[in-house]
Amino acid sequence: MSEQQPTLLPYADPAFVADPFPLYRQLREDGPVRRVVVAGGLDAWLVTRYEDGLAALSDSRLSSDVRDASDSRIPRQLPETERDSMLSNMLRTDPPDHTRLRRLVSQAFTARRVAGMRPRIQAITDGLLDAVVPVGRADLVADFALPLPVTVISELLGVPVDERRDFQQWTDRMLRRGVEPPDPAVVNEAWQHMRAYLTGLIHAKRSHPGDDLLSGLVAARDAQQRLSEDELIAMVFLLLVAGYITTVNLIGTGIATLLAHPDQLDLLRCDPELLPGAVEEFLRYDGPVSPGIARFAREDVEIAGVAVPRGATVLIGSAVADRDPERFPDPDRLDITRKDNAHLAFGHGIHYCLGAPLARLEGQIAIGTVLRRLPGLALAADPDGIRRRPGGLRGPESLPVTFTPGG
Ligand code: HEM
Repeated sequence: MSEQQPTLLPYADPAFVADPFPLYRQLREDGPVRRVVVAGGLDAWLVTRYEDGLAALSDSRLSSDVRDASDSRIPRQLPETERDSMLSNMLRTDPPDHTRLRRLVSQAFTARRVAGMRPRIQAITDGLLDAVVPVGRADLVADFALPLPVTVISELLGVPVDERRDFQQWTDRMLRRGVEPPDPAVVNEAWQHMRAYLTGLIHAKRSHPGDDLLSGLVAARDAQQRLSEDELIAMVFLLLVAGYITTVNLIGTGIATLLAHPDQLDLLRCDPELLPGAVEEFLRYDGPVSPGIARFAREDVEIAGVAVPRGATVLIGSAVADRDPERFPDPDRLDITRKDNAHLAFGHGIHYCLGAPLARLEGQIAIGTVLRRLPGLALAADPDGIRRRPGGLRGPESLPVTFTPGG
């Protein structure tokens, strides 16, 4: 195969950020593995089709550990302080460390455990909407989609209520990289605060354990030495951030997508039983992780007949593959009644999203409750004017809406 010219994913171009799917489609039609340049000028091999994506996510020759990347800019791009600790979280480790770390928390996130959280998530949701219902207008990102997941995951871990706002700010600063080269000073400073905060919180749980997840992890560290102090901090940080902006984006994108598809909105209003399927369709149609999930080739590999060299970054294009017409008929159509909708938005294989049951439940409750409690919901901005978060995590930055007050 002749050497491919890499295609730039133009994150600085508002048209691409608003709608990357025409370019995704072109890349998918051009071939199963396309060379692309992603944020920060990094080169990657994008896997564009569904079946190849599934296979790549199960391929143990593709590592999650950035130390397997030949492009030394990748580990170097991480702020210094972040490097040691962030490289030891489960998302960025391979077996056997991955297996050990994931096992420590997997019980807290089973579908059954998460189902038990429904009343509390509903109460948090209602509490947030109580504040906007009488007003008749809101920014459903700032007033609703942002605080909901951060409150849920903080309660699960045992982060005190009055400390959540700081935590949310540091996370925003750290995640806002992706398009322009990140400002290392800003990211570093936020991480210093976050690390100091988490260290203090761990101390507090040591002296006053509660029945929260963090106290359980501290016990696993102290009594059974099943994880190091760095791993403990990395775990808590991962759980806090992995479940945060992704879920904000699911809720924000879900509502924005419905408002742009009035027929589907009516359908859902008439039959709330369609909610679980609708959330799956939002994840397939415009998932928060976009274009996809990174791996690093541990050795020379062949993916769909394309030779990929050792050390290469392989980007499994979950958002590209989720519109593969070979797998999803009429893929560019939003259809909340779609059957057989096993999308890749939560990944696949051993790293399959640990928080998927929680994200689904939060998405269903959040979107369902908004539709029920905010009658006459309408976008208070030009749909094309809705600013998206650029970079690898997609979703609206704000969602101004109006509705009938007091409903
Ligand atoms: C892993 C997406 C919500 C925790 C992943 C992966 C994806 C993903 C694609 C796989 C990454 C890979 O293979 O490298 C999402 C989306 C969410 C969401 C789209 C919301 C709509 C959550 C929530 C939590 C969470 C609420 C709760 C704490 C995790 C963790 C991992 C993970 C811990 C790492 C699992 C592992 O490496 O074994 N997520 N996620 N996620 N997610 Fe989520």
